[in-house]
Amino acid sequence: METLQEMMKKVLADTFAMYLKAHNYHWNVEGINFPQYHEFFGNLYEELHGAVDPIAEQIRALDTYAPGSFTRFVELTDIEDETTIPTGQEMAGRLLADNEKVLATLNMTFKLADEFDKQGLADFIAGRIDTHSKHAWMLRSISK
Ligand SMILES: [Fe+2]
Repeated sequence: METLQEMMKKVLADTFAMYLKAHNYHWNVEGINFPQYHEFFGNLYEELHGAVDPIAEQIRALDTYAPGSFTRFVELTDIEDETTIPTGQEMAGRLLADNEKVLATLNMTFKLADEFDKQGLADFIAGRIDTHSKHAWMLRSISK
C-alpha cells in the first residue's frame, strides 16, 4: 500500500509540474501563431489544474497526506522546471516529453491500484491515462 501512496504522490507532483509549465507557456509564448498557442496552452493548463484537486483527494482517501509544496514536488517529479522562453513549437515538444513521463507514472500507478484491489482508484487513473493520451495526440501534432 505504501508504494501505491507514493506513486499517487508522484502522479500529483507530475501533474502539477506539467500544469505549471503549460501555464508558464500560456503567459509567455510569442510569435505569429501567438493566438493559437496561447489558447491551446490555456486549455491544457486548465485541464491539468482541474485534475490536481481530485488527485490530492484520492491521496487523502488512501489515508496519507497530499504533498503541496515546491520542495516536495521537486523531490517527487522527474519533470524539469522551465526557466527559459522557448519557441511555441519547442514548448509543445517539451510538453509532449513531459506528458510521456506523466503517462508512464499513471500506467505504473494503475497496475498498483489494481494489485491492491482499489478498483475505484484504478478507474480514476484510467480516466487520467485517457486524457493524457489525448494531450499526447495534440502535442505531437503541434510539435511536428
Ligand atoms: Fe490567461
